[in-house]
Amino acid sequence: MSGKETFPVRSIPGSYGLPVIGNLMDRLDYFRLEGPDKFFRNRMAKYQSTVFRANVPASAPLFGGSDPKVIAIVDSAAFTTLFDVSLVEKKDVLVGDYLPSLNYTGGMRVLAYLDPSEPQHSSIKSFLMHNLRRSSKTWVPELQSSLEPLWSTLEKDVEDKGKVKVLLPLQKFLFSFLSKVLLGADPAVDPEIAKNGHCIIDKWLASMLVPTLGTGGVIPYPFEELLLHSFPFPFALVRGDYEKLHGFILNHAKEVLSIGINEYGLTEAHAAHNLLYALGFNAFGGFSIFLPSLISYIGKDPGLQERLCSEVRDVMNAHEGMSFNAVSEMELLSSTVYEALRMNPPVPFQYGRARRDFNLKSHDCAYRVQAGELLCGFQPLAMRDPRVFEAPEEFRADRFTKERGGEALIQYVYWSNGPQTATPSVENKQCAGKDYVVATTRLILADLFMRYDSFQLDKDSSSTITSLKRRS
Ligand code: HEM
Repeated sequence: MSGKETFPVRSIPGSYGLPVIGNLMDRLDYFRLEGPDKFFRNRMAKYQSTVFRANVPASAPLFGGSDPKVIAIVDSAAFTTLFDVSLVEKKDVLVGDYLPSLNYTGGMRVLAYLDPSEPQHSSIKSFLMHNLRRSSKTWVPELQSSLEPLWSTLEKDVEDKGKVKVLLPLQKFLFSFLSKVLLGADPAVDPEIAKNGHCIIDKWLASMLVPTLGTGGVIPYPFEELLLHSFPFPFALVRGDYEKLHGFILNHAKEVLSIGINEYGLTEAHAAHNLLYALGFNAFGGFSIFLPSLISYIGKDPGLQERLCSEVRDVMNAHEGMSFNAVSEMELLSSTVYEALRMNPPVPFQYGRARRDFNLKSHDCAYRVQAGELLCGFQPLAMRDPRVFEAPEEFRADRFTKERGGEALIQYVYWSNGPQTATPSVENKQCAGKDYVVATTRLILADLFMRYDSFQLDKDSSSTITSLKRRS
C-alpha cells in the first residue's frame, strides 16, 4: 500500500469473460439489453463494488486493436483518481481505447487527445483560454443579441403550429453565438455556413462518435451492431462539410488565428483545427446535450419556474443590465444549473490509463491497479453516490443553495472533468470553458425568465415546447 492510507486493499471484482465472446456479451448488454446506465448499475450490484472490470465500446473485430477491457469506476471518491494526472495518462483516451481517425481533426492530435506532459498541450490550452478571456468582454451582449432570434423562432412556431422542437433552433443559436465569441466571426458573412453550420457539426460529431453510441432502437439491434458499431465511420462521408467549416475559420477568424500563431507559437493549421474542435466538439457538442436536458428538468416543474422567475427579476431590479456578476447572485438559478449537471453530465465518461501500479482509493477500501490498465469513470453514477448526495436520484433544484447547506457539495460536481471548485489549467485536463459554461447557462435562463413568465413542454416529449407565456 502506498503512502499513509490504511484502507484494506481489495482485488478488483468482475471479469472480461472469454476472448471475443466476453466482449460481445457485454456489448449486447450495453447497447441492447441494458443500456449504459443499467449496464453499470447492474454490475455494481452484482459485484457489490463501485470499482469492477467490464468490456465497454468501442471495440469490435474490425476496430484494429482497440481494447474493450476497462476498470469501471462509479463512486464519487474513486472517480477523483481520473483527475490526478500524476497517476493516469490522458493521451488518446478521450473516448476510451478508440481514437477516431485523425482525418476528423485535420490530420493532427488536437488538444483533447493530448496528455498534459506533451508540450503542445500547454500552448494550445493557453491559447484557447486566452481566447475565452479576450471574448469575455463581448460575451454578454453577443449572447443577448443571439438569443433574440431564438426566442422569436420559438414563439412564432408555437403560435403557428402549437409546438416547436427545441433542438435545431437551439443549435442554430449556439452555432451563431459560439462562432461570434470563439472565432470572432459572425456566420452571417457566409450564407451557407449561417444556414447549415450547426447541421454540419452534427454530422461530423455523429460520424466520429457513432461507434460508441446506441440509436435507442431506431435501427434494429443486429443491424445497428453490424452497420454502426463494427468499424470506424469513413471520414470521406463528411470531408466536404469539414472543409467548409475549416475554410470559414481560415477566412473569417484571422484575428483569433493570429493570436495562436504570434503569441502561442502555433502553426496556422494547429490553431485552426483546434479552434474548430473547441467550437464544434467541446462547446457546441457540450451545450447541445446539456441545454435540452436542463430545459426538460425546469419545464416539468411549474413551481420551480415561478421561483426562478421571481429570483431573476428581483436580482435584476438591483442591477443596471445583465452581466456575469448579476447572474452569479441568483442562488437558486445557479443551484439548478449544478443540479442539472449532476443528474445528467453531458460528457458521461472519463478515461485515464494507469501510469504505474497504484492503489485506487474508494470510500473505504482501495483496489490494486496495474500500470497500463485503462480506467473508465461513469459520471452519472459517481454523481449519484449516496455516500455524498442525499436522495441522489431526485432532481432537487435547491440542493446546492446556502439555505440547504449545499455549498459544500459543489466540489463533488464533476461534469467538467474536475471538481466544480477547481480551476482548469495547463497542468490538468479540466474543461477550459468550465466557468463560461456555468455563466452562459445562468445568463440564458435569466434572459428566458426576464422575457417569459413560464413555458410548458409536450407531455410526450420533453424536447418540444407547447407554450411560452410572455411576461405579464
Ligand atoms: C456544456 C458545455 C461543455 C461541456 C459539457 C464540456 C465538457 C468538457 C469535458 C468533460 C472535458 C474533458 C474531456 C476529457 O479529457 O475527458 C472538456 C475539455 C475541454 N473543454 Fe469543455 N465542455 C463544454 C464547453 C466548453 C466550452 C464553451 C469551451 C470553450 C472553448 C470548452 C473547451 C474545452 C477544452 C479546450 C477542453 C480540453 C482541455 C484539456 O485538454 O486540457 N468546453 N470539456
